[in-house]
Amino acid sequence: MNKLKLALLGGAAVLPVGAMAGELNLICSADVVICEKLVSEFEASHSDIDVNMVRLSSGEAFAKIRAEARNPQTDLWWGGTGDPHLQAASDGLSAEYKSPMLDKLQDWAQGQAKVSGYHTVGVYSGALGWGYNTEIFEAKGITPPKCWADLLDPALKGEIQIADPNSSGTAYTTLATLVQLMGEDEAFDFLKKMHANVSQYTKSGSAPVKAAARGETGLGIVFQHDAVAQAVAGFPVGVGSPCEGTGYEIGSMSMVEGAQNPDEAKAFYDWVLTAEVQSMMPDAGSFQIPSNASATPPKEAPDLSTIKLIDYDFAEYGSSERRKALLARWDAEVGSMPIE
Ligand code: F6P
Repeated sequence: MNKLKLALLGGAAVLPVGAMAGELNLICSADVVICEKLVSEFEASHSDIDVNMVRLSSGEAFAKIRAEARNPQTDLWWGGTGDPHLQAASDGLSAEYKSPMLDKLQDWAQGQAKVSGYHTVGVYSGALGWGYNTEIFEAKGITPPKCWADLLDPALKGEIQIADPNSSGTAYTTLATLVQLMGEDEAFDFLKKMHANVSQYTKSGSAPVKAAARGETGLGIVFQHDAVAQAVAGFPVGVGSPCEGTGYEIGSMSMVEGAQNPDEAKAFYDWVLTAEVQSMMPDAGSFQIPSNASATPPKEAPDLSTIKLIDYDFAEYGSSERRKALLARWDAEVGSMPIE
């Protein structure tokens, strides 16, 4: 509850004369556990600011901010894949901000800021792959896939889950990765063939590997750090890194254009870019690579230098036209196919 309201209800003059409780309306697009931890740590260190947080997948967050453009209800959007943050920048939905923390960040995080005209910034990074339930694979005698091409193996029928790229940044990164690896027509051909093995397109990007961990499906196409999180939590999950190469995310943060609480948004923005805060992520089961160059990367984080990464074109795949066109084509050609 708002601390000002609390003080008034209690009838006590808790706040010093002239002090006003500030508010921050935050969308958080990473895992809910890290979202809640960031909010409670921020409120503990900024006792004059109350945070109202909502957790939404990357594409859903973008849609909410776009829908609210004339009357923004959100001040700050933290986390989620970079592409919709870049689209928000190019659509004029986010505000320019140069944090004093910028020069403390890794080159890839500063690059994300530069390419957007300082309308967004990188907060973490991680590579795409999959997580699979080792016990299910063993029991069914399925060989764990090593390459994207292996996902078409008929032995995987009904075993694959992946999110819907409209709502999920993870799934959009997968779509854009396949297009960059194979060419657009070939990528859609691949996705239509893989559809035969898919049992569900989920809303959230990490849901497929959570389902694999619980034994509800064999394999989830997700960011590798989300598969690692399930393995660290004790589930029988193996992590796959595609042999042909794979895409990656620059998880990002943007301030909303016309935000009602810009000062509170800047306070969170600068705070969440510090090494101290970014080093906390593994405590909440999040294993991305932090963007602050002095933050301690989680020891369990997949080592990006050993993963075959493609030269992901963030500007191209974060552009409004490209993202809209790819999603429309996915709806028409993949999302509309019946699940058998
Ligand atoms: O669970 C964490 C995470 O994978 C982030 O690394 C990523 O930015 C986000 O979730 C993507 O979520 P979604 O695919 O639901 O948009």
